[in-house]
Amino acid sequence: PGPVVDASRLILVTGGTGYIGSHTCVCLQQAGFRVLVVDDLSNSNVAVLDAIESVSGERPLFEQGDILAPGWLDAIVARYRPAAAIHFAGVKSVGESSRDPLRYYAINVAGSIALVQALARQGDPRVVFSSSATVYGEPDSLPLREDHPLRPESAYGRSKMMVELMLADVCASDGRASVVSLRYFNPIGAHGSGQLGDSPLGEPENLVPYLGRVANGTLKRLRVFGGDYPTPDGTCVRDYVHVVDLAEAHVAALDCVLSAPGHRVFNIGTGVGTSVLDLVGAYAAASGCELPYTIVERRPGDVACFYADPQAARDTLQWHAKRGLGEMCADAYRHVADGVAPELMLAAPTHVPA
Ligand code: NAD
Ligand code: WQD
Repeated sequence: PGPVVDASRLILVTGGTGYIGSHTCVCLQQAGFRVLVVDDLSNSNVAVLDAIESVSGERPLFEQGDILAPGWLDAIVARYRPAAAIHFAGVKSVGESSRDPLRYYAINVAGSIALVQALARQGDPRVVFSSSATVYGEPDSLPLREDHPLRPESAYGRSKMMVELMLADVCASDGRASVVSLRYFNPIGAHGSGQLGDSPLGEPENLVPYLGRVANGTLKRLRVFGGDYPTPDGTCVRDYVHVVDLAEAHVAALDCVLSAPGHRVFNIGTGVGTSVLDLVGAYAAASGCELPYTIVERRPGDVACFYADPQAARDTLQWHAKRGLGEMCADAYRHVADGVAPELMLAAPTHVPA
């Protein structure tokens, strides 16, 4: 039997109900692609499909399953014959990766191998891969360019580096293969509708979900990890990028993957460094909430300063980040305040925006 939908515009999105994947599904649909989401819902909720449909007007196709299940992805790819895949499915906690490295190598590395094998068996393997700026490790120089040496400091980071190397080898050996690896800096924010956003199951790891908890009163105060870094205000500097800008980068990368073979790597960031206290201030201004904080000990493994040189993405993908810090914070807060972030809604907000 032939493919079940017009395969030339069909994109397989692994991890498509997750934070970045769900925003990318909407951008793909708005760009005229049909989306097939594959996710085991281990870190996301099936209701995200309703939210995607509500925002874009179109429900993605959906297959629930584990990308590691033997033969499962082969069967999906054979059935739908997608034109390309965007590969978000994976695990992303730096801390957990040192406690359980095999889980990281299994899901992130073996999962990526399973995807590329399934695609290669069916046709030309074309992939946009979710890498991470964490592959750089401690920077020698800033801003970070793609040719900076890779010295990841966690099993998570090493799993991402291994996948990039594997993908480069596949492209070198198979002239049909086409891959773009995107090294994300710090994705934050949410869809402007409030319906999609970062809704981590369980205890969050990242700064902005914690700010959401302080804003809605479920957490009394933010702990700021370290106030004595060699930065202008003593707190760590990062390159925060709006998740919708990031989602748009995937559409640009997909166009690149669909037009030429080979492996290419791009930083996806704004190029702007923002300190923890700058971000707290921007979130307080955007939300109208008071955000008490206490400076505590440094968190092991944090580097003082980390931001991208995003010029290569601008030159080759014609992509650049358009949304500023105020919009990132306002959108993140809207998701917490009016949206569907159930873990953040355990208590009624104590601070209401003016
Ligand atoms: P997320 O956890 O929200 O999304 C990942 C999705 O993959 C989830 O829906 C989860 O259920 C699914 N998944 C996990 N294992 C699976 C499996 N074995 N089979 C099928 N589905 C599976 O994470 P996110 O923040 O959207 O990140 C997406 C990707 O981007 C990840 O690969 C992550 O490593 C990478 N990344 C994220 C960040 C960040 O700060 N969020 C930064 C850099 C890179
Ligand atoms: C940002 C800053 C913290 C929480 C991580 C991963 C990276 C990538 C993005 C996947 C740091 C400070 C945080 C808190 C705080 N993910 N902070 N109080 O560490 O830059 O990057 O997410 O690829 O690989 O390492 O992001 O949001 O955890 O922290 O002061 O309660 O906020 O110390 O300076 P990070 P983050």
